[in-house]
Amino acid sequence: MAEKSDAITKVSKALLNQLNEAIARELQVAIQYMWQHVQWGGVKGFAVHDELKSIGIAEMKHAEAIAERLFYLGGIPTTKPTPIFVGNTLKEMIQRDVKDEEGAITLYKQITEAAIKEGDVTTAFLFKQILQQEEDHHDTFTTLLEDL
Ligand SMILES: [Fe+2]
Ligand SMILES: [Fe+2]
Repeated sequence: MAEKSDAITKVSKALLNQLNEAIARELQVAIQYMWQHVQWGGVKGFAVHDELKSIGIAEMKHAEAIAERLFYLGGIPTTKPTPIFVGNTLKEMIQRDVKDEEGAITLYKQITEAAIKEGDVTTAFLFKQILQQEEDHHDTFTTLLEDL
């Protein structure tokens, strides 16, 4: 597929690469949470099960929204997730998920700042919205972890 090059907003290759890094991470956690949702076990899993499913679906929507923005800006969205970690115990799963949400929060703050510097307010606005949801996910996972 040809790259789009008619966007009014022009951004650096570095920012496009960061958007692709974000997509790779969103794809990773969408699959990770889905498989954790499938493989949950034990009584405590009941509390976690539905959250993993709904957060997994939210991550897929993030991947799509970022991919649409990247494509508009002239980039090609990656199809490759960063390495997926499912885990064996519920505690192991949620510990890793907390770390992945922290990683997303750090990256999305960087992307928001970079986008503002480059005058791309739309990307900054998109990532501010997603960042708010990642902070919610982080809060959910850390709260769940307290009882595991
Ligand atoms: Fe996300
Ligand atoms: Fe998240």
